[in-house]
Amino acid sequence: MHDTSTLQQALAQNLFDAPPESAKALIETLGAIAQACAHISDIAAQGVLVGAHGLAESANSQGEDQKKLDVLSDELMSRHLGACPHVAGWASEEHERQQQSWDHEKQGRYLVVYDPLDGSSNIEANISVGTIFSVLPHTYRGAPPSDSSYMQPGHAQLAAGYVLYGPATIMVLTCRRGVLVFTLDRNSTRGGAPAVWVLTQDQVSIPVQTREFAINMSNQRFWEKPVQRYVAECVAGEGGPRMKDFNMRWVASMVAEVHRIMTRGGVFMYPRDTRTPLKPGRLRLMYEAAPMALLIEQAGGRAVTGTSELLDLVPDTLHQRVPVILGSHEEVSRIVGYHADPHENVSWQLFKTRSLFVQPQA
Ligand code: AHG
Ligand code: MN
Ligand code: MN
Repeated sequence: MHDTSTLQQALAQNLFDAPPESAKALIETLGAIAQACAHISDIAAQGVLVGAHGLAESANSQGEDQKKLDVLSDELMSRHLGACPHVAGWASEEHERQQQSWDHEKQGRYLVVYDPLDGSSNIEANISVGTIFSVLPHTYRGAPPSDSSYMQPGHAQLAAGYVLYGPATIMVLTCRRGVLVFTLDRNSTRGGAPAVWVLTQDQVSIPVQTREFAINMSNQRFWEKPVQRYVAECVAGEGGPRMKDFNMRWVASMVAEVHRIMTRGGVFMYPRDTRTPLKPGRLRLMYEAAPMALLIEQAGGRAVTGTSELLDLVPDTLHQRVPVILGSHEEVSRIVGYHADPHENVSWQLFKTRSLFVQPQA
Protein backbone atom coordinates (compact mmCIF):
# COMPACT_ATOMS: atom_id res chain seq x y z
CA MET A 1 0.00 0.00 0.00
CA HIS A 2 1.47 3.35 -1.02
CA ASP A 3 1.52 6.58 0.93
CA THR A 4 -1.81 8.33 0.50
CA SER A 5 -0.65 11.95 0.83
CA THR A 6 -2.29 14.24 -1.70
CA LEU A 7 -0.37 16.76 -3.80
CA GLN A 8 -1.13 19.60 -1.39
CA GLN A 9 -0.17 17.59 1.72
CA ALA A 10 3.02 16.24 0.20
CA LEU A 11 4.09 19.68 -1.02
CA ALA A 12 3.40 21.26 2.36
CA GLN A 13 5.74 18.68 3.88
CA ASN A 14 8.32 19.06 1.09
CA LEU A 15 8.36 22.87 1.49
CA PHE A 16 8.21 22.89 5.29
CA ASP A 17 11.34 25.04 5.61
CA ALA A 18 10.23 27.65 3.04
CA PRO A 19 8.63 30.90 4.27
CA PRO A 20 4.92 30.04 4.81
CA GLU A 21 3.65 32.75 2.44
CA SER A 22 5.78 31.64 -0.51
CA ALA A 23 5.15 27.93 0.19
CA LYS A 24 1.39 28.60 0.11
CA ALA A 25 1.65 30.58 -3.15
CA LEU A 26 3.80 27.91 -4.82
CA ILE A 27 1.47 25.10 -3.70
CA GLU A 28 -1.55 26.97 -5.06
CA THR A 29 0.21 27.68 -8.35
CA LEU A 30 1.20 24.03 -8.76
CA GLY A 31 -2.37 23.11 -7.80
CA ALA A 32 -3.67 25.25 -10.68
CA ILE A 33 -1.28 23.54 -13.12
CA ALA A 34 -2.24 20.11 -11.74
CA GLN A 35 -5.93 20.89 -12.21
CA ALA A 36 -5.35 21.96 -15.83
CA CYS A 37 -3.39 18.75 -16.44
CA ALA A 38 -6.16 16.61 -14.93
CA HIS A 39 -8.52 18.17 -17.52
CA ILE A 40 -6.02 17.51 -20.31
CA SER A 41 -5.77 13.92 -19.08
CA ASP A 42 -9.57 13.51 -19.30
CA ILE A 43 -9.68 14.87 -22.83
CA ALA A 44 -6.67 12.82 -23.97
CA ALA A 45 -8.29 9.68 -22.53
CA GLN A 46 -11.58 10.36 -24.34
CA GLY A 47 -9.65 10.94 -27.56
CA VAL A 48 -11.63 10.70 -30.73
CA LEU A 49 -14.91 10.49 -28.74
CA VAL A 50 -14.59 14.18 -27.84
CA GLY A 51 -13.06 15.28 -31.13
CA ALA A 52 -9.56 15.63 -29.67
CA HIS A 53 -7.74 13.98 -32.58
CA GLY A 54 -6.50 15.52 -35.82
CA LEU A 55 -5.04 18.80 -36.98
CA ALA A 56 -6.30 22.12 -35.70
CA GLU A 57 -5.82 23.70 -39.17
CA SER A 58 -3.46 26.24 -37.64
CA ALA A 59 0.28 26.56 -37.08
CA ASN A 60 2.12 27.78 -34.02
CA SER A 61 4.53 30.71 -34.02
CA GLN A 62 7.35 28.42 -35.13
CA GLY A 63 5.41 27.28 -38.19
CA GLU A 64 4.65 23.79 -36.83
CA ASP A 65 1.23 22.29 -37.50
CA GLN A 66 -0.91 22.30 -34.38
CA LYS A 67 -2.98 19.33 -33.36
CA LYS A 68 -6.42 19.92 -31.84
CA LEU A 69 -5.09 18.59 -28.54
CA ASP A 70 -2.14 21.04 -28.67
CA VAL A 71 -4.63 23.90 -28.84
CA LEU A 72 -7.05 22.49 -26.24
CA SER A 73 -4.24 21.77 -23.79
CA ASP A 74 -2.82 25.24 -24.25
CA GLU A 75 -6.23 26.82 -23.62
CA LEU A 76 -6.72 24.79 -20.43
CA MET A 77 -3.31 25.74 -19.06
CA SER A 78 -3.90 29.37 -19.97
CA ARG A 79 -7.33 29.44 -18.32
CA HIS A 80 -6.13 27.93 -15.05
CA LEU A 81 -3.00 30.10 -14.89
CA GLY A 82 -5.03 33.23 -15.65
CA ALA A 83 -7.27 32.46 -12.67
CA CYS A 84 -4.36 31.90 -10.27
CA PRO A 85 -3.60 35.05 -8.26
CA HIS A 86 0.10 34.20 -7.91
CA VAL A 87 0.81 34.03 -11.64
CA ALA A 88 1.84 37.33 -13.23
CA GLY A 89 2.37 35.90 -16.71
CA TRP A 90 2.99 32.77 -18.71
CA ALA A 91 4.63 31.66 -21.93
CA SER A 92 3.70 28.64 -24.01
CA GLU A 93 5.33 26.75 -26.86
CA GLU A 94 2.11 27.42 -28.77
CA HIS A 95 2.20 31.24 -28.54
CA GLU A 96 4.69 33.67 -30.00
CA ARG A 97 4.39 36.13 -27.12
CA GLN A 98 4.06 35.74 -23.38
CA GLN A 99 0.60 36.22 -21.95
CA GLN A 100 -0.41 37.91 -18.77
CA SER A 101 -3.24 38.10 -16.34
CA TRP A 102 -4.65 41.63 -16.29
CA ASP A 103 -5.79 41.03 -12.70
CA HIS A 104 -2.56 39.67 -11.33
CA GLU A 105 0.18 40.91 -13.65
CA LYS A 106 1.63 43.19 -10.99
CA GLN A 107 1.04 41.30 -7.76
CA GLY A 108 1.75 37.81 -9.06
CA ARG A 109 5.05 36.48 -7.81
CA TYR A 110 5.53 33.81 -10.50
CA LEU A 111 5.95 33.31 -14.22
CA VAL A 112 5.01 29.92 -15.66
CA VAL A 113 6.39 28.47 -18.90
CA TYR A 114 5.08 25.29 -20.48
CA ASP A 115 4.82 22.89 -23.38
CA PRO A 116 1.10 22.08 -23.16
CA LEU A 117 1.38 18.87 -25.13
CA ASP A 118 4.70 17.19 -25.78
CA GLY A 119 4.89 14.37 -28.32
CA SER A 120 1.72 15.46 -30.08
CA SER A 121 2.73 13.60 -33.25
CA ASN A 122 1.92 10.46 -31.22
CA ILE A 123 -1.69 11.26 -30.31
CA GLU A 124 -3.49 9.38 -33.06
CA ALA A 125 -1.24 6.35 -32.44
CA ASN A 126 -2.44 6.38 -28.81
CA ILE A 127 1.16 6.61 -27.59
CA SER A 128 1.95 8.53 -24.40
CA VAL A 129 2.03 12.34 -24.55
CA GLY A 130 2.70 14.83 -21.78
CA THR A 131 2.77 18.40 -20.46
CA ILE A 132 6.03 20.04 -19.29
CA PHE A 133 6.04 23.10 -17.03
CA SER A 134 8.33 25.35 -15.04
CA VAL A 135 7.78 28.08 -12.43
CA LEU A 136 10.13 31.10 -12.42
CA PRO A 137 10.19 34.09 -10.08
CA HIS A 138 8.64 37.31 -11.40
CA THR A 139 11.68 39.28 -10.36
CA TYR A 140 10.28 42.78 -10.85
CA ARG A 141 7.11 42.26 -8.92
CA GLY A 142 5.00 45.39 -9.13
CA ALA A 143 5.56 45.76 -12.88
CA PRO A 144 3.87 43.67 -15.57
CA PRO A 145 6.15 41.01 -17.07
CA SER A 146 7.68 41.37 -20.54
CA ASP A 147 9.55 38.83 -22.68
CA SER A 148 12.79 39.80 -20.97
CA SER A 149 11.33 38.82 -17.57
CA TYR A 150 11.59 35.19 -18.75
CA MET A 151 15.28 35.35 -19.71
CA GLN A 152 16.46 33.58 -16.55
CA PRO A 153 18.88 30.68 -16.25
CA GLY A 154 17.54 27.20 -15.57
CA HIS A 155 19.01 27.48 -12.07
CA ALA A 156 16.41 30.16 -11.29
CA GLN A 157 13.49 27.72 -11.62
CA LEU A 158 11.54 27.43 -8.37
CA ALA A 159 9.71 24.31 -9.48
CA ALA A 160 9.48 22.17 -12.58
CA GLY A 161 7.57 19.11 -13.60
CA TYR A 162 5.84 17.05 -16.23
CA VAL A 163 2.61 15.14 -16.46
CA LEU A 164 2.67 11.91 -18.46
CA TYR A 165 -0.64 10.88 -20.01
CA GLY A 166 0.02 7.17 -20.32
CA PRO A 167 -1.74 4.05 -19.05
CA ALA A 168 -1.78 6.01 -15.77
CA THR A 169 -1.59 9.80 -15.52
CA ILE A 170 1.52 10.64 -13.52
CA MET A 171 2.98 13.96 -12.36
CA VAL A 172 6.70 14.15 -11.64
CA LEU A 173 7.57 17.31 -9.76
CA THR A 174 10.45 19.10 -8.12
CA CYS A 175 10.47 22.17 -5.88
CA ARG A 176 14.26 21.86 -5.66
CA ARG A 177 13.99 19.41 -2.76
CA GLY A 178 14.24 16.16 -4.68
CA VAL A 179 11.68 14.68 -7.06
CA LEU A 180 8.19 13.50 -6.11
CA VAL A 181 5.84 11.34 -8.17
CA PHE A 182 2.05 11.62 -8.01
CA THR A 183 -0.58 9.48 -9.70
CA LEU A 184 -3.91 11.00 -10.71
CA ASP A 185 -6.88 9.26 -9.15
CA ARG A 186 -8.98 9.28 -12.30
CA ASN A 187 -12.16 8.58 -10.33
CA SER A 188 -11.71 11.88 -8.52
CA THR A 189 -12.38 14.04 -11.57
CA ARG A 190 -15.81 12.59 -12.33
CA GLY A 191 -18.48 15.28 -12.40
CA GLY A 192 -15.91 18.10 -12.54
CA ALA A 193 -14.68 17.66 -8.93
CA PRO A 194 -11.15 18.87 -8.07
CA ALA A 195 -8.57 16.30 -9.09
CA VAL A 196 -6.86 14.18 -6.43
CA TRP A 197 -3.18 13.44 -7.06
CA VAL A 198 -1.76 10.79 -4.74
CA LEU A 199 1.91 10.70 -3.77
CA THR A 200 3.14 7.37 -5.13
CA GLN A 201 6.92 7.85 -4.90
CA ASP A 202 8.84 10.08 -2.53
CA GLN A 203 12.30 10.98 -3.89
CA VAL A 204 13.30 9.54 -7.24
CA SER A 205 16.91 8.48 -7.72
CA ILE A 206 18.22 7.79 -11.22
CA PRO A 207 20.77 4.93 -11.45
CA VAL A 208 24.17 6.49 -12.24
CA GLN A 209 25.03 3.79 -14.78
CA THR A 210 22.97 2.51 -17.65
CA ARG A 211 22.92 0.27 -20.72
CA GLU A 212 20.04 2.04 -22.44
CA PHE A 213 20.03 5.02 -24.80
CA ALA A 214 17.36 6.92 -26.72
CA ILE A 215 18.02 8.90 -29.90
CA ASN A 216 16.35 9.39 -33.26
CA MET A 217 18.73 7.25 -35.35
CA SER A 218 17.32 8.61 -38.60
CA ASN A 219 19.23 11.83 -37.92
CA GLN A 220 22.56 10.02 -37.64
CA ARG A 221 24.12 11.57 -40.72
CA PHE A 222 23.67 15.04 -39.19
CA TRP A 223 25.26 14.34 -35.78
CA GLU A 224 28.59 15.72 -34.69
CA LYS A 225 31.57 13.43 -34.01
CA PRO A 226 31.23 13.01 -30.23
CA VAL A 227 27.66 11.70 -30.56
CA GLN A 228 28.63 9.53 -33.55
CA ARG A 229 31.35 8.02 -31.38
CA TYR A 230 29.15 7.49 -28.34
CA VAL A 231 26.34 5.77 -30.25
CA ALA A 232 28.74 3.68 -32.33
CA GLU A 233 30.34 2.42 -29.12
CA CYS A 234 26.92 1.52 -27.67
CA VAL A 235 25.91 -0.28 -30.86
CA ALA A 236 29.23 -2.17 -30.93
CA GLY A 237 28.14 -3.84 -27.70
CA GLU A 238 30.14 -6.50 -25.95
CA GLY A 239 32.81 -6.67 -28.69
CA GLY A 240 33.34 -2.89 -28.72
CA PRO A 241 35.23 -0.58 -26.35
CA ARG A 242 32.37 -0.50 -23.82
CA MET A 243 32.48 -4.30 -23.53
CA LYS A 244 28.75 -4.51 -22.82
CA ASP A 245 25.55 -4.66 -24.83
CA PHE A 246 23.19 -1.68 -24.95
CA ASN A 247 19.49 -1.42 -25.59
CA MET A 248 17.86 1.38 -27.60
CA ARG A 249 14.45 3.02 -27.17
CA TRP A 250 12.78 5.89 -29.05
CA VAL A 251 9.21 6.91 -28.20
CA ALA A 252 9.37 10.41 -29.76
CA SER A 253 7.66 11.84 -26.67
CA MET A 254 10.30 13.47 -24.50
CA VAL A 255 8.06 13.13 -21.44
CA ALA A 256 7.84 9.37 -21.92
CA GLU A 257 11.61 9.09 -22.50
CA VAL A 258 12.43 11.10 -19.38
CA HIS A 259 9.97 9.11 -17.33
CA ARG A 260 11.61 5.87 -18.40
CA ILE A 261 14.95 7.33 -17.30
CA MET A 262 13.40 8.36 -13.96
CA THR A 263 12.24 4.78 -13.52
CA ARG A 264 15.26 2.74 -14.59
CA GLY A 265 18.04 5.06 -15.83
CA GLY A 266 19.22 5.66 -19.37
CA VAL A 267 20.35 8.45 -21.66
CA PHE A 268 18.15 10.61 -23.88
CA MET A 269 19.75 12.64 -26.66
CA TYR A 270 18.44 15.22 -29.10
CA PRO A 271 21.91 16.51 -29.93
CA ARG A 272 23.15 19.43 -31.98
CA ASP A 273 23.03 18.53 -35.65
CA THR A 274 24.14 20.07 -38.90
CA ARG A 275 20.78 19.93 -40.67
CA THR A 276 19.69 23.51 -39.96
CA PRO A 277 22.66 25.50 -38.65
CA LEU A 278 20.36 28.23 -37.35
CA LYS A 279 18.52 25.70 -35.16
CA PRO A 280 21.23 24.02 -33.09
CA GLY A 281 18.75 21.56 -31.60
CA ARG A 282 15.14 20.41 -31.85
CA LEU A 283 14.00 20.92 -28.29
CA ARG A 284 13.08 24.22 -26.70
CA LEU A 285 15.20 25.52 -23.85
CA MET A 286 12.46 27.06 -21.77
CA TYR A 287 9.58 24.65 -22.27
CA GLU A 288 11.42 21.33 -22.55
CA ALA A 289 15.16 21.36 -21.82
CA ALA A 290 15.38 23.49 -18.66
CA PRO A 291 12.48 21.93 -16.71
CA MET A 292 13.64 18.41 -17.58
CA ALA A 293 17.21 19.34 -16.65
CA LEU A 294 16.13 20.49 -13.19
CA LEU A 295 14.12 17.29 -12.63
CA ILE A 296 16.96 15.08 -13.86
CA GLU A 297 19.55 16.84 -11.68
CA GLN A 298 17.28 16.77 -8.65
CA ALA A 299 17.03 13.00 -9.14
CA GLY A 300 20.83 12.62 -9.28
CA GLY A 301 21.27 12.63 -13.07
CA ARG A 302 22.97 15.15 -15.36
CA ALA A 303 21.66 17.32 -18.22
CA VAL A 304 23.91 19.06 -20.76
CA THR A 305 24.09 20.39 -24.30
CA GLY A 306 27.29 18.41 -24.81
CA THR A 307 29.52 21.37 -23.99
CA SER A 308 27.55 23.19 -21.24
CA GLU A 309 25.29 22.37 -18.34
CA LEU A 310 21.71 23.00 -19.46
CA LEU A 311 20.78 24.77 -16.22
CA ASP A 312 23.51 27.39 -16.83
CA LEU A 313 21.96 28.61 -20.08
CA VAL A 314 20.14 31.93 -20.13
CA PRO A 315 17.64 32.11 -23.00
CA ASP A 316 17.91 34.91 -25.60
CA THR A 317 14.38 34.38 -26.87
CA LEU A 318 11.25 32.60 -25.62
CA HIS A 319 11.35 29.83 -28.22
CA GLN A 320 15.11 29.23 -28.34
CA ARG A 321 16.17 25.68 -29.19
CA VAL A 322 19.11 23.81 -27.72
CA PRO A 323 20.84 20.42 -27.97
CA VAL A 324 19.83 18.10 -25.11
CA ILE A 325 21.69 15.15 -23.60
CA LEU A 326 20.38 13.95 -20.25
CA GLY A 327 20.05 10.97 -17.96
CA SER A 328 22.27 8.69 -15.89
CA HIS A 329 25.15 10.70 -14.46
CA GLU A 330 28.14 8.57 -15.45
CA GLU A 331 26.93 8.08 -18.98
CA VAL A 332 26.18 11.78 -19.60
CA SER A 333 29.60 12.63 -18.15
CA ARG A 334 31.20 10.23 -20.63
CA ILE A 335 29.46 12.06 -23.51
CA VAL A 336 30.64 15.40 -22.10
CA GLY A 337 34.16 13.94 -22.08
CA TYR A 338 33.85 13.02 -25.76
CA HIS A 339 32.81 16.61 -26.55
CA ALA A 340 35.79 17.94 -24.59
CA ASP A 341 38.33 15.64 -26.26
CA PRO A 342 40.41 17.77 -28.65
CA HIS A 343 41.58 14.67 -30.47
CA GLU A 344 38.07 13.40 -30.92
CA ASN A 345 38.19 9.97 -32.53
CA VAL A 346 35.72 9.08 -35.18
CA SER A 347 34.34 5.60 -34.96
CA TRP A 348 36.17 4.16 -37.97
CA GLN A 349 39.40 4.67 -36.03
CA LEU A 350 38.06 2.78 -33.05
CA PHE A 351 36.67 -0.20 -34.92
CA LYS A 352 39.27 -0.95 -37.52
CA THR A 353 38.07 -4.48 -38.01
CA ARG A 354 34.33 -3.94 -37.61
CA SER A 355 33.77 -0.45 -38.98
CA LEU A 356 30.27 0.96 -38.64
CA PHE A 357 31.04 3.94 -40.84
CA VAL A 358 32.51 4.51 -44.27
CA GLN A 359 36.12 5.61 -43.95
CA PRO A 360 36.86 9.03 -45.42
CA GLN A 361 39.05 9.01 -48.53
CA ALA A 362 42.73 9.86 -47.81
P1 AHG B 1 6.38 18.62 -29.48
O1 AHG B 1 5.38 17.53 -29.72
O2 AHG B 1 6.06 19.45 -28.27
O3 AHG B 1 6.68 19.44 -30.71
O4 AHG B 1 7.77 17.96 -29.05
C1 AHG B 1 8.17 16.76 -29.60
C2 AHG B 1 9.63 16.57 -29.31
C3 AHG B 1 9.94 15.57 -28.24
O5 AHG B 1 8.88 15.06 -27.55
C4 AHG B 1 10.61 14.45 -28.94
O6 AHG B 1 11.73 14.08 -28.25
C5 AHG B 1 10.93 14.98 -30.28
O7 AHG B 1 10.21 16.13 -30.48
C6 AHG B 1 10.59 13.98 -31.34
O8 AHG B 1 11.09 14.41 -32.52
P2 AHG B 1 11.27 13.51 -33.81
O9 AHG B 1 10.42 14.19 -34.83
O10 AHG B 1 12.73 13.58 -34.15
O11 AHG B 1 10.84 12.11 -33.53
MN1 MN C 1 7.54 19.19 -26.84
MN1 MN D 1 4.24 20.64 -27.67
